[in-house]
Amino acid sequence: MQDKIVLEAANLKKYYHRGSEIVKALDGVELKIKESEIVSIIGPSGSGKTTLMNLIGCLDKASAGSLKIGDTEVASLEENDLIKIRRENIGFVFQRFYLIPTLTVRENIELPLIFAKKSINEKKLLVLLEEVGLKGKERIQVKYLSGGDKQRTGIARALVNDPKILITDEPTGKLETEVKGQILELFKSLSEKGLSICIATHDLELAQATQRIIHLQDGKIVPREKSDLYY
Ligand SMILES: Nc1ncnc2c1ncn2[C@@H]1O[C@H](COP(=O)(O)OP(=O)(O)O)[C@@H](O)[C@H]1O
Ligand SMILES: [Mg+2]
Repeated sequence: MQDKIVLEAANLKKYYHRGSEIVKALDGVELKIKESEIVSIIGPSGSGKTTLMNLIGCLDKASAGSLKIGDTEVASLEENDLIKIRRENIGFVFQRFYLIPTLTVRENIELPLIFAKKSINEKKLLVLLEEVGLKGKERIQVKYLSGGDKQRTGIARALVNDPKILITDEPTGKLETEVKGQILELFKSLSEKGLSICIATHDLELAQATQRIIHLQDGKIVPREKSDLYY
């Protein structure tokens, strides 16, 4: 099916308390992400990008509103159920990679499987390595990899549990322009296989290369013409 919605946020809010002050990090966000879609979320520093990623990644709970991952309403779930939804649906890719440098590419990719107490399917691992462009590099310790290959390892690790949505916060932040392009190409080929990808970034070039750009400002989605960012 082409227009299957994998994620739907409605009037999503996240408030933080700082002393007596309330910070409205997200203030009523409406968002739908379809299967196979690449969406970028852009906005100035402090606009709520990371907060939104943490919510849709089920790493944190909303203060109010609704968030559906597939058919499940997650806004009201308890931590244990949230963890389950996260493991079954979400993969994360981080700017700082968060890989273990002294472990090999393969060992880093396998980590989530160990946490999920799943056994390792050799065939699948090979397919994954091929898919992300790391074939033949599985035995190299991560500390010897280039930045691009570190991010490929991060992406493979995010995919090992077969998520439906890949969430990335500034995935190309530490990479050279040429490598950024390669990572974007990789995202595109993954999305063509059905994965939905949500990229938070302040990199306009990266955002412009995605199918849809969502502008966040002061915790709200604003139309492009009202955004502080112009291009
Ligand atoms: N844990 C927290 N406690 C208090 N305020 C926070 C916390 N996390 C984020 N904020 C505030 O929420 C707003 C949005 O932050 P964030 O989501 O990190 O924005 P962005 O990723 O776009 O830079 C900012 O004003 C930030 O200071
Ligand atoms: Mg951020």
